Amino acid sequence: FSLQKLNSFGFLSYAEYFVSVEDEHALSTAIEFALEKKIPWQVLGSGSNVVLQEFLPGLTIHMAILGKKLVSESATHFYIDCGAGESWHDFVQWTLESGYPGLENLALIPGTTGAAPIQNIGAYGAEVAGMIDSVEVLDTKSLQSTEANFAGDLSTQQNWQVIPKSECQFAYRDSIFKRELPAYVVTQVRFAIPKKWQANLSYAELANFFLHNKSPTPLEIFEAVIAIRSRKLPHPKVLGNAGSFFHNPVVDLATHQQLKEQFAGLVSYPAPDHFGEKQFKLAAGWLIDQCGLKGYRAGDCGVYEKQALVLVNYGNATGSEVLQLANHIKHCVLEKFGVSLHQEPINLPNGKV
Ligand code: EPU
Repeated sequence: FSLQKLNSFGFLSYAEYFVSVEDEHALSTAIEFALEKKIPWQVLGSGSNVVLQEFLPGLTIHMAILGKKLVSESATHFYIDCGAGESWHDFVQWTLESGYPGLENLALIPGTTGAAPIQNIGAYGAEVAGMIDSVEVLDTKSLQSTEANFAGDLSTQQNWQVIPKSECQFAYRDSIFKRELPAYVVTQVRFAIPKKWQANLSYAELANFFLHNKSPTPLEIFEAVIAIRSRKLPHPKVLGNAGSFFHNPVVDLATHQQLKEQFAGLVSYPAPDHFGEKQFKLAAGWLIDQCGLKGYRAGDCGVYEKQALVLVNYGNATGSEVLQLANHIKHCVLEKFGVSLHQEPINLPNGKV
């Protein structure tokens, strides 16, 4: 089964077996099938944060659980459930149209709602963790140890869990779901959206957008984010990519000071303290740009000409070629700045980076 349309890089990739699941029962049946047949399995949302190799052995399960609704409200919050297979951007738009604003800074991020908590998507001064109440998952951990003798029924086992936000271990581009991949399969996300809406213009570029409009509406912010994103980031349907290919690296105070002295133009921001120690986030795009790699091309893959943090597929690049380019970039940045870059998209088949 070709996955070329199911990954935003547009890599040519084939799944040995493929199934699209539209409810929890279909998901557990699919995993049971793989366990019984002793074949590997992996879950794919809309493939916007993965690097696919040419062949994915075993069963690829396409997450297509849909549905979004207001489930309850308190004096202070709206509680909204959204199926893991819903498009993230469409969900954000729906919340705004339905009168539950708050997610507008995260407009236009490609991918599914189920993938949003996994890497704790963040942009323009907001992280999705800020509005998550809990995440429903199918926990397959216990099954992995008994895989050899699996003959059970997932739906009758105590594997369905609702993980409250306090246990999600959310951090910059990280969560328990990412750390434990592929053990947890996210099936639904519950959002807690504050009833008292406040504009979040903490991101400088967004604040600049509203220099002459002191009280923008949620919809105006939504549209501004779409405009800013579209200026800098290539649309995957036009030019294959997976957004930022690396995390913005975090360094300690001493390293930051040393880099600042060596490179006057260093772009960095204060990051949350780590055990009481000050930390700084470096703009990885700037580091790559300074290595002269913006617009660099190797065969059919390259570094996007407007944002060096984004790697692109000009047509027929493969997952392996992009990983080779990524290694070249990591090497250049390490040589020049002594800083290690970490890949953001997940490699499939092995589910890790
Ligand atoms: N910069 C350069 N050259 C470049 C790219 C960036 O000099 O080629 C410098 C610029 O000075 C710019 C700064 O780096 O001001 C930061 O760039 P930008 O505002 O584009 O943000 P980013 O740090 O590169 C992060 C997220 C993006 C998110 C934006 C906006 C990560 C890994 N990436 O990018 O997320 O949209 O901030 O909040 O944290 C994604 O994850 O796919 C993604 C696009």
